Amino acid sequence: MRPAGPDTIAHAAAILRGGGLVALPTETVYGLAANGLDPRAVAGIFAAKGRPADNPLILHVPDYAAVAGIVDAPPAIAGRLAEIFWPGPLTLVLRRSAKVPEIVSAGLETVAVRVPDHPVARAILRACGRPLAAPSANRSGRPSPTRAEHVLADLDGRIDLIVDGGPTAHGIESTVVDLSELDRGGPPLLLRQGAIAREALSAHLPGLVDGAAIAPERSPGLRHRHYAPRARLEIVDNGALAERARALAGEGRTVGVLAGGVDDEAPRDPEIAGVRWLAFDGGLEGYARGLFAGLRTLDALAVERILAAAPPEIGIGRALADRLRRAAAG
Ligand code: TXA
Ligand code: MG
Repeated sequence: MRPAGPDTIAHAAAILRGGGLVALPTETVYGLAANGLDPRAVAGIFAAKGRPADNPLILHVPDYAAVAGIVDAPPAIAGRLAEIFWPGPLTLVLRRSAKVPEIVSAGLETVAVRVPDHPVARAILRACGRPLAAPSANRSGRPSPTRAEHVLADLDGRIDLIVDGGPTAHGIESTVVDLSELDRGGPPLLLRQGAIAREALSAHLPGLVDGAAIAPERSPGLRHRHYAPRARLEIVDNGALAERARALAGEGRTVGVLAGGVDDEAPRDPEIAGVRWLAFDGGLEGYARGLFAGLRTLDALAVERILAAAPPEIGIGRALADRLRRAAAG
């Protein structure tokens, strides 16, 4: 693990050009990067993460111009969305060009692309001059890493370098939208809720529909187990957290609480014996920033139950609710 800086960035780029694996910060979560045009390097990502081979990867590029080399005939709306949301946490699924190795797309005819909004990620992209395939830098099934220490905990000894750029800004992954069927009359599909709110996206993308409902086969990531903490997780309203925690503690269970997400101030710790209370201030954004780290903290404490505040399903609250439901499904 090395702090981000000019030497580290040059070193990271050299490793990536040589076919190695580098974990790096983005504005959403840490990514595990490899040269996206080198199938052997990309295979290393799947091996290091223990990722199922049918779950495709996002290619990260420095700007929209770089998309031209890896996708075929993008619709005009892709360029307009790129202008509005890139660099930033929006991933576009488009038809892939022959240059993109099959392993990146897990055999699909499409490829996911995005331009990250993080100075370190962008510097490494520029320095190595290749699209970088990068899923979240966690072992498969673990919460996405929002700090370099989380990557170290999951992948130490399995990858070549971790670039430490401090905690990530959003804490939740990018929003994924599939535009690959537009020219055949298909609707734009929202494949994953993420850091760009659905409301913000819909304003520029009329007719956006929920992909999980109408085309689950287009979203391989949804088939897999995600964000599963070791403890059973329940989603509870902020106002009912203390009472539920007290009840579980009264049965002799150890409990972790993730409080936050409605007002700027999360409910304070009522200091119940056997209950570890984590409060995230800063409204929904603050809750999103802290969620994955909170799940890791509670897992490390080996609590038996986790109670998580139910976020209102607006803005980034939709992505939060989605991650919590998956965590609750175990
Ligand atoms: O914010 C992010 O998106 C982070 C940072 C590192 O960029 N990356 C990330 O990657 O979350 P990953 O691999 O953990 O999640 C990518 C999601 C998965 O659900 C995957 O199934 C989906 O995007 N995906 C990738 N390529 C796809 C494709 N061609 N068609 C449909 N879904 C795709
Ligand atoms: Mg992931």
